[in-house]
Amino acid sequence: MQPHRASSTARLIALSTVFLSHQPRDRDLLPPEAAALSESLLTRTAPLALRLIRALSRPGARGLVLGFERLVLPGIQRHYAARKRYIEDAARAFLAGAGGQLLVIGAGLDTLATRIARDMPDIRCVELDHPATSALKRDAMGGDVPANLVLVPLDLGRSPWAEAEGIDPALPTFVVLEGVTMYLTEQAVEETLQGCARMAPGSQLVWTFMHPDARGHVRFHQARAAVSAWLASRREPFTWGLALGVVPEFLAPLGLEPQEIVTATQLRARYLDPRGIDGALAQGEALCLTRTTE
Ligand SMILES: C[S@@+](CC[C@H](N)C(=O)[O-])C[C@H]1O[C@@H](n2cnc3c(N)ncnc32)[C@H](O)[C@@H]1O
Repeated sequence: MQPHRASSTARLIALSTVFLSHQPRDRDLLPPEAAALSESLLTRTAPLALRLIRALSRPGARGLVLGFERLVLPGIQRHYAARKRYIEDAARAFLAGAGGQLLVIGAGLDTLATRIARDMPDIRCVELDHPATSALKRDAMGGDVPANLVLVPLDLGRSPWAEAEGIDPALPTFVVLEGVTMYLTEQAVEETLQGCARMAPGSQLVWTFMHPDARGHVRFHQARAAVSAWLASRREPFTWGLALGVVPEFLAPLGLEPQEIVTATQLRARYLDPRGIDGALAQGEALCLTRTTE
């Protein structure tokens, strides 16, 4: 990421939440309040893009967006929604049982921490993000930051996050690292994950990673070259990925152990099939629910 530019992909994901909330088939994937909160964040930070996406969400116009998506990366919006649904379910299950802390690393304009902070006032919530994106989020939230939510600016490539002010390492913590590792170096990924291993015993982590395609490319498997070109133009190219088969060996020296690895196949079975959603779902990013071994 560029030092002074907030993440464009974070804005894109928030816009996609708004778009999907207007689509009859897919809106059931979104948790209550997620779209309304995303709209409120975008009102302050990307008002023109928000107006455009609202206009393009209408029945007569939505075909333009869906046609473009089919052309460049089929099922990417549904992928964002399904991955968020998995993370939401895992976070709420952990916090309902263990209490403690929710830490969202590289939160972007995601709304999970805000909604949990409102729903569960005893949970400490922390969002940690690159300083430029964290500043954007603070502006976007205006005066609406819940008392139990802290926004922490930090560049993962430069500073160890586990000692950052605002994080309580003594609390059992559910850590979310969603849509972030692909932008980091391997060293920064390892350091970030290692920080999770140092949280209080019983803490849990869900993180996502790109698993390379058959030709070894780190990308969404159906993505056209235009996607990589756009990411490069925003200074957010994908830099890191990991083969699905080596996840346990990768995590073991970091003091971590995978509990579940979830790809598009499992996301479809768990979230799309029961809702009768049979359209495309992008492949190439997996989720890994992980526990500490120390
Ligand atoms: C694709 S967005 C994902 C946002 C959010 N997690 C979601 O899934 O909706 C990538 C996020 O990673 C953050 N990020 C990228 N590089 C980072 C770095 N070096 N340090 C901290 N955050 C970083 C960006 O600021 C952005 O919020």
